[in-house]
Amino acid sequence: MPAQHYENKVFNEDAVIGLNRIPDGSVDLIIADPPYSLGKDYGNQSDKLNTADYLSWMQLWIDAAIPKLKPTGSFYIFLTWRYSPEIFVMLKQRLQMINEIIWDRRVPSMGGSVRSFTSVHDTIGLFVKGNGKGYYFDLDAVRIPYDAQTKKARSRSIFVGAKWLEVGYNPKDLWSVSRVHKCDPERADHPTQKPLEIIDRMIYASCPPGGLVLDPFMGSGTTAVSAQRCGRRFVGFELNPDYCAIIQSRLAAPYAQPIANNNQPTEPVRAKISRAV
Ligand SMILES: C[S@@+](CC[C@H](N)C(=O)[O-])C[C@H]1O[C@@H](n2cnc3c(N)ncnc32)[C@H](O)[C@@H]1O
Repeated sequence: MPAQHYENKVFNEDAVIGLNRIPDGSVDLIIADPPYSLGKDYGNQSDKLNTADYLSWMQLWIDAAIPKLKPTGSFYIFLTWRYSPEIFVMLKQRLQMINEIIWDRRVPSMGGSVRSFTSVHDTIGLFVKGNGKGYYFDLDAVRIPYDAQTKKARSRSIFVGAKWLEVGYNPKDLWSVSRVHKCDPERADHPTQKPLEIIDRMIYASCPPGGLVLDPFMGSGTTAVSAQRCGRRFVGFELNPDYCAIIQSRLAAPYAQPIANNNQPTEPVRAKISRAV
């Protein structure tokens, strides 16, 4: 199918069927945020499968999606601890695993589980095609600038002109980014919307400018918005027609317009420990 028939489009259809629209070997980056099997209401039954059906459905769409990647392509998948062990094992038989990223949702400390530790993170897997050596990864695009206080503390002569101090440090695999709150301007009417800050970082790091990002489960369209504002192309699928309408209105919002590379620090600034005397 010619690229103009699917590029920068979100199709209101089942991803397993829709993936046939996309030529094999044409996608730079897949960002997949599938249902987690937690019983959420997406206006369909997709998050309400039993364990066996869920795991075989995950394998079905993963096997339909992977051939779409270029040899330099990358694949991020959002999961929870419940099924990440099974799904990581499945993916490791098909791709090279590069990272397990922990997304700390910065859940405030108020009550929580009483018979277990309160879960406050999502698990994200980063996998790549091939032998794990030829994949695209632009570290400079996602470096985190040092704050003025740290730069000042490193002002001794041995640090002057140090490249790492000027360009910033490379992000770690713990990403502390707040959930999208109700009062946030980017908030949409979707129960599991992901923050743009997270998706921007994945796209800057793992998709070249102008490249193609595929999201099989668009939800409120965070991947489409992020790709558009970061100067990449997108394609994706979403079962719920109401969410497809939300995606179109989000793509027209001010925050969806092109931005300069402005990845911001995502780690909480730690107060200095002051010793009592
Ligand atoms: C976890 S949400 C994605 C949220 C999205 N990342 C965001 O930031 O808004 C998963 C979405 O997948 C959709 N979905 C479930 N099964 C699907 C399928 N087979 N094909 C396409 N979309 C599907 C659901 O309707 C839901 O909106």
